[in-house]
Amino acid sequence: MKILVVGSGGREHALAWKIAQSPRIQTVYVAPGNGGTALDQRLENINITDPAELADFVVREHVALTVVGPETPLAAGIVNIFRDRGLKIFGPTREAAQLESSKDFAKSFMQRHHIPTAEYQTFSDVDAAHQYIDQKGAPIVIKADGLAAGKGVVVAMTLEEAHGAVDMMLSDNRLGDAGARVVIEEFLAGEEASFIVMVDGKNILPLATSQDHKRLKDDDQGPNTGGMGAYSPAPIVTPALHARVMREIITPTVQGMAKDGIPFSGFLYAGLMIDDKGNPKTLEFNCRMGDPETQPIMARLKTDLLTVMEHAVTGTLDTIELEWDRRTALGVVMAAAGYPDAPRKDDLISGIPAETADTVTFHAGTTLNGERLTTSGGRVLCVVGLGDSVKVAQKQAYNVIDSIHFSGAQFRRDIGWRALKKHA
Ligand code: AMP
Ligand code: GLY
Repeated sequence: MKILVVGSGGREHALAWKIAQSPRIQTVYVAPGNGGTALDQRLENINITDPAELADFVVREHVALTVVGPETPLAAGIVNIFRDRGLKIFGPTREAAQLESSKDFAKSFMQRHHIPTAEYQTFSDVDAAHQYIDQKGAPIVIKADGLAAGKGVVVAMTLEEAHGAVDMMLSDNRLGDAGARVVIEEFLAGEEASFIVMVDGKNILPLATSQDHKRLKDDDQGPNTGGMGAYSPAPIVTPALHARVMREIITPTVQGMAKDGIPFSGFLYAGLMIDDKGNPKTLEFNCRMGDPETQPIMARLKTDLLTVMEHAVTGTLDTIELEWDRRTALGVVMAAAGYPDAPRKDDLISGIPAETADTVTFHAGTTLNGERLTTSGGRVLCVVGLGDSVKVAQKQAYNVIDSIHFSGAQFRRDIGWRALKKHA
């Protein structure tokens, strides 16, 4: 069987790697893929990104099923295009993807369906936004309504920062259309966790829990990034909290979308803030898997992902169960010099060891030119270690990291610290 994975990051490498382990797989195409998917014999990169051209390719090559990694093609309607042509694809329609592509959509949806989230208001008028900030005080959070590639959220600790963020988005138009409307919401304190499930329109299949690290530097210092590392499971998500999140957040979301006439299928990712009393609130929805959460999660999945995907596109996710490696998987991102503001490209990468039973290196911003593997994006690699404890998984990952070299590589030395603290 042939499968197509759309995207080029570490998330897509991990999804394609896992799907390719199925004995029924002939080829997994990755569009456009990266240096790592080019190196893997079982994967084949195709240089197409336009959704309609991808649909043509799928028809021509008799690809059985397509899985979409990133939010951009989902928000652009790749699922609508494929479905209109009768092609099997796992992901939300353009309409359902609004849970991620419009913060205002997500917030009013949550309010309407009584899903716990921060109090908010949406503004397109600058003066009204400034007034609201003065009325509410700091800390306060300013979010561009649309997709802004990770640059759309300002957690303002002072009034000055908050007003500045509003000016940046609404007056100076620095984020273009994405920032033409802003959601201003209450600051939530606590610990974040990523809660990711698969949905087939109706049935929900939760994936293993995970937690990522957004700041660039150790001790959660430095600028926000797309994610510098992640691990699974996340001890903060106890069985009791898991049941509560399913009951209060995930199930009402899936049922609410169906009730509103825009059933959700695809990966649904709720970014949670868990307060010091253990109460979860939804910070945001993503309509895709997390990156880098996917990398450790896929490293732990034992069930054949092709079979799972087949159930996902035929609406039968209620008939399977997922089996997980009981070990902890911990992924450390190696980022390029200059990341996140101005990542440098074309640094030569060396020393990536072959996969073992305890370690695997997923590629993100890499390009293969003949024999030369070079950096080509902000997050370059995600090295995953597996172990019976967080500490052992961490050691496995950092052993591999220490053998890999590229000029200016940036990575954290403390991925997993929250889980280690919980075990201590
Ligand atoms: P988002 O894209 O909405 O998840 O926001 C990006 C990051 O900003 C989150 O991962 C949080 O670290 C932070 N954040 C977002 N909303 C809030 C909030 N209401 N209170 C505190 N931090 C937030
Ligand atoms: N790791 C955060 C995200 O994928 O949005």
